Amino acid sequence: MPAIIDTDPGIDDAIAILHALRVPDLDILALTTVAGNIGLSVTTGNAGRIVACAGVPTPVHAGAAAPLGREPRPETGVHGTDGLGGVTFPAPLAEPASRDAVAYMAEALMAAEPKTIDLLCLAPLTNVALLLRHHPEAAARIRRIIAMGGAVDEPGNMGADKRAEFNLAHDPEAAAEVLHAGLDLVLIPLDATRQFRANADFIARLRTVGTAPSVACADLIEAYFAQTEGQTQIRESRPLHDPCVPLYALRPDLFRLETRSLQVEPESGALVPGPYQMQVAMGVDADGLRDALAEGLAC
Ligand code: BDR
Ligand code: CA
Repeated sequence: MPAIIDTDPGIDDAIAILHALRVPDLDILALTTVAGNIGLSVTTGNAGRIVACAGVPTPVHAGAAAPLGREPRPETGVHGTDGLGGVTFPAPLAEPASRDAVAYMAEALMAAEPKTIDLLCLAPLTNVALLLRHHPEAAARIRRIIAMGGAVDEPGNMGADKRAEFNLAHDPEAAAEVLHAGLDLVLIPLDATRQFRANADFIARLRTVGTAPSVACADLIEAYFAQTEGQTQIRESRPLHDPCVPLYALRPDLFRLETRSLQVEPESGALVPGPYQMQVAMGVDADGLRDALAEGLAC
């Protein structure tokens, strides 16, 4: 299954990427980076370090440094000042590629048979919106987009009123352009990702697996706990948002999809009732997902 991962690493992005690079059934052609959890130069450097940890040489293409038509947004700090919760990673195997992310996506899509490449989106949708705007013929050749983002029935995780979710709220204009475009798209919102949690037992299991990527994931989840210390509900477990995306590509049977009629609210990025039919993951088999993640990281 050839796929491009669009990402802003990001603790949970790193776990998703390590798994996706190691698991034999996914062929990750490249990582494309975007500003989100932290600024673009950091997300791009982190992508290179994650590739080095996985030991699977994969090009990294840097994309948008700011949401559409806006200044770069302040960083959230949830992922630490280095975006990876202070976990040590090896130096990148190579410099980022010279071609920018959106041009790379367009070229890769045009060079491949139509409808053969998936986009696995772990971040604000700025790069994907730019692809739709500037390379519509290439975008029409995407096989499928699987994107982590949004909150449907659940509260979000942004702003005082918690209506919106980070990936959509960071660039609401891009989110609307992508989610309203009628593409073959599966959205994995907080409603599903909050059901897929890691606790101390799961961290211990990843340490027992013992590969460099699985130990790095154990360290990353521990760092995730440290970033949110003191919040009672999450002291015992943390949700694994972005790993749901490659896991959906591999194991759609572990997710329950619903078709919902929604739209992205301008400015806030909240998902609200609207005219666009979307395939949304609303339930997961959490034990099955934990098994699949641990098994993939053992490869
Ligand atoms: C999303 O926001 C980011 O902080 C995570 O990496 C994930 O992509 C969860 O709302
Ligand atoms: Ca992310």
